[in-house]
Amino acid sequence: MDRESKLPLLAEIPAADLAGRQVLVRLDLNVPIENGQVADDFRLQRIRPTVAYLVKAKARVIILSHLGRTAGSLRPVARYLQNFFPLGFVPELDQLKSQAASLSAGGILLLENLRRYPGEAVNDQDLVEQLASVGEIYINEAFAASHREHASIVGLPRRLPAYVGFWFAEEVRNLSRVFKPGHPFTVILGGAKFETKLPVVRKFIDAADQIFIYGALAHAFFRELGYELGESLVDKDASLARPFLGHPKIVLPADVRVQNSGRVFIKRPDELTTSDNILDVGLLSVEKLLPVIGQSRFILWNGPLGNFERGFRGSTEAAAKFIAGSNAESIVGGGDTVAGDSVSGSVEPI
Ligand code: 3PG
Repeated sequence: MDRESKLPLLAEIPAADLAGRQVLVRLDLNVPIENGQVADDFRLQRIRPTVAYLVKAKARVIILSHLGRTAGSLRPVARYLQNFFPLGFVPELDQLKSQAASLSAGGILLLENLRRYPGEAVNDQDLVEQLASVGEIYINEAFAASHREHASIVGLPRRLPAYVGFWFAEEVRNLSRVFKPGHPFTVILGGAKFETKLPVVRKFIDAADQIFIYGALAHAFFRELGYELGESLVDKDASLARPFLGHPKIVLPADVRVQNSGRVFIKRPDELTTSDNILDVGLLSVEKLLPVIGQSRFILWNGPLGNFERGFRGSTEAAAKFIAGSNAESIVGGGDTVAGDSVSGSVEPI
């Protein structure tokens, strides 16, 4: 909890000090969008208390977020958020200043996807200044994006008085439990982003009793082992897996579910052809994991075990059910989810 007490919390700002102030709130609105609609609103539900608190305190709220890696639009997210509170959408950064100037107390604006601006990913000082010029206070409520050295994550809090939102604080509180895990302590990693998951492997390789590397993350190991991967997804940072090859605590999938010409097969990872595409782990791999879950006292799980979006949900759902039904303490994380009268000025219809 030491770590948490060092973070200034939003709740520490007296409400009276928020009234009428322009508050930049960095949210993580990176939710799945399918056919132009929000497909999972978990993250959108979780940010509600922070936004509601600011609105109630009559702050002038300017929301910043990314969506995906580059050009996607936050417009569907803006539409969805209007179920919770009225907000105006700012489609271009150069319109932010004028729209912010006419934002009334308790009003909300959402700027279009920050990653449309190349300065975001490189923490460009000009972008930081442009954003800071419309804010008096900065709040980070984007825990899941806070490992990024981006302008809106590390640049802004150096320029403005900075606080963390309610959900951020809760995430830190929850995650702090992992520093004193019960044993057996099992880490399960899936998903595809090796670059962000590798630090987790490094961090817990000593403390954990076993680390299951499933999902597309395992493909990096398969590549380093020299296996044919066919059309399977492999992270560009696959070589980072090398130092952990053969580590006794690391468990890789014993079998994989591959798709080829519209048909699905289960294969050993070392027997793929050039046209196979791994989309999930196989039954043997699931059977290996479930009893370990049952025996664990602490489980840290991040990332799906199969390609969830393409319907390969079996292994992930089995693991989720087992964890929910087990006695283990668990932390599960990772992400793959009315122009109002309080907003005046020229606000685009969303
Ligand atoms: C996530 O969904 O993991 C966060 O929004 C961070 O996204 P990123 O990996 O694209 O930075």
